Amino acid sequence: MTRSSLPAWQALQTHAKDMQTQSIKAMFDADNQRFDNFSLRLPGLLFDYSKQNINQQTMSLFEQLAQQCDFDTWRDKMFAGERINITEDRSVLHVALRRDTSKPLDVDGENVSAQVAEQLAKMKAFCDKVQSGQWLGFTGKPMRHIVSIGVGGSNLGPEMATNALKHYKQTNLSVHYASNVDGNQIADVLDAVDLEATLFVVSSKTFTTSETMTNANTAMQYLVDALGDKAAIGKHFVAVSTNTEKVTEFGIDADNIFDMWDWVGGRFSLWSTIGLPIALYLGFEHFEQLLLGARNVDEHFESAPLGQNVPFIMACLSIWNCSFLNARSQVILPYDQVLNRLTAYLQQAEMESNGKHVNFSGDTVDYNTVPTIWGEIGINGQHAFYQYLHQGNNIVPADFIGSITPIRHMAHHHDILIANMLAQAEAFMAGVSESEVRDSLAKAGKSQQVIDELASHKVHQGNRPSSMFLFDKITPFSLGQLIAMYEHKIFSQGILLEVCSFDQWGVELGKGLANNIHAEILADGDVDGHDSSTRALINYYKANKS
Ligand code: F6P
Repeated sequence: MTRSSLPAWQALQTHAKDMQTQSIKAMFDADNQRFDNFSLRLPGLLFDYSKQNINQQTMSLFEQLAQQCDFDTWRDKMFAGERINITEDRSVLHVALRRDTSKPLDVDGENVSAQVAEQLAKMKAFCDKVQSGQWLGFTGKPMRHIVSIGVGGSNLGPEMATNALKHYKQTNLSVHYASNVDGNQIADVLDAVDLEATLFVVSSKTFTTSETMTNANTAMQYLVDALGDKAAIGKHFVAVSTNTEKVTEFGIDADNIFDMWDWVGGRFSLWSTIGLPIALYLGFEHFEQLLLGARNVDEHFESAPLGQNVPFIMACLSIWNCSFLNARSQVILPYDQVLNRLTAYLQQAEMESNGKHVNFSGDTVDYNTVPTIWGEIGINGQHAFYQYLHQGNNIVPADFIGSITPIRHMAHHHDILIANMLAQAEAFMAGVSESEVRDSLAKAGKSQQVIDELASHKVHQGNRPSSMFLFDKITPFSLGQLIAMYEHKIFSQGILLEVCSFDQWGVELGKGLANNIHAEILADGDVDGHDSSTRALINYYKANKS
């Protein structure tokens, strides 16, 4: 039975018609317990979803939908390491990366916990060597710079985490990222470091991603040219990958390889050895705190009843807004400068996971799946697109993310920041009516003509839904919680929408075409084939490139 023919799905469709006539503000006016009824606490976090366009019936229908989708069984399968990545026939076990490794987890006869423990120990020992100055470069210098070369899940997690937690770092190392194949980026990175004191971490689950291999080759050539000996590679390059053969072929010593596994999706891999730049830069203890924060949410997600289950509720809200109320995007609004790479991270996590249009059987679904995920850090967004959010004719549900205690105390800045975050959430929900606008214009002494001309331009319809995540403080632990909440939200959406959240066939076509066009650019003479646009563009580029 397809999802949209399930009784609970059909009931949600009927319910959506009713709720579209609802006003969130009116529901607050009618129930002074609304906040209490639609907010939850986790350690160090207040999650408030009372400004969403929902009521008890909404949430109850989603719990029925979960039962009709056999949600609990699917969740148990994931934690047990069953192959729920159905099109690649793989387990999905990022939860094993932050699990108590003293508890064995047998998958296909292998104790996964022991494998994770071994790699964590290898990471810790390596971090100790590098951070203590024991690991010396080819010319005898200790390391001062970490250069992480990787893209997608091999970049976004480490970059987001080191950006968010940089004020916690216990090392004197700098960290730099080369993800884009645009030569500007690797050139800037190589300009910024002392090669004799630089450790390159080449992260690639497959070790076949062309942009990563291109950047790694360029960096390697740069190093050998500068230090005059290929033997330098062994002192300045390590790799993180599942593909040991490709790594050694590439020229990185087998001892300098950190393993990862097929049962870790790239976009869920920051907890694995892909997180090596995090541990090197911040210190291993902070990396462990990140893991513990994620474990805290894993335990919550695995055990909390669905009605008090934060990731499950997050998923229901996204599906409710996107698949039933037809909101085609969702905006992430972190009111914290250090979370300035969070949205980019969530874009891959959410849209590479659930940006699909067929169900488990391969049949095209008849509903919206994942919303477009976009956003910007708090105050900056207010001066960029909040006009659209407030008065545009597309309703965009928002996730606000803030903290009570700032990482750095600067006078009264934080109070102003949080006042803005809370005010914007209130304004999205409550809006301002025409009568309120007219009253305020009259009080400002405007003429009746001006009032008549201006009033409708100043109305804010409100009824814009949002969720609020208010942390005590952004710390390694709470960042781990936040990311794990979104990971389990994404899993939950996949089950309720019946899309496979763990493959990414949609990235293959573009990669293949790029390889072909790259070969055509390098070949002599004009190309033919393609459509007339692509053909003309390739030939124009070839004719004009220096
Ligand atoms: O974006 C496609 C993708 O395969 C992601 O899923 C992955 O995180 C990224 O490319 C990098 O892949 P790899 O780690 O194998 O280089």
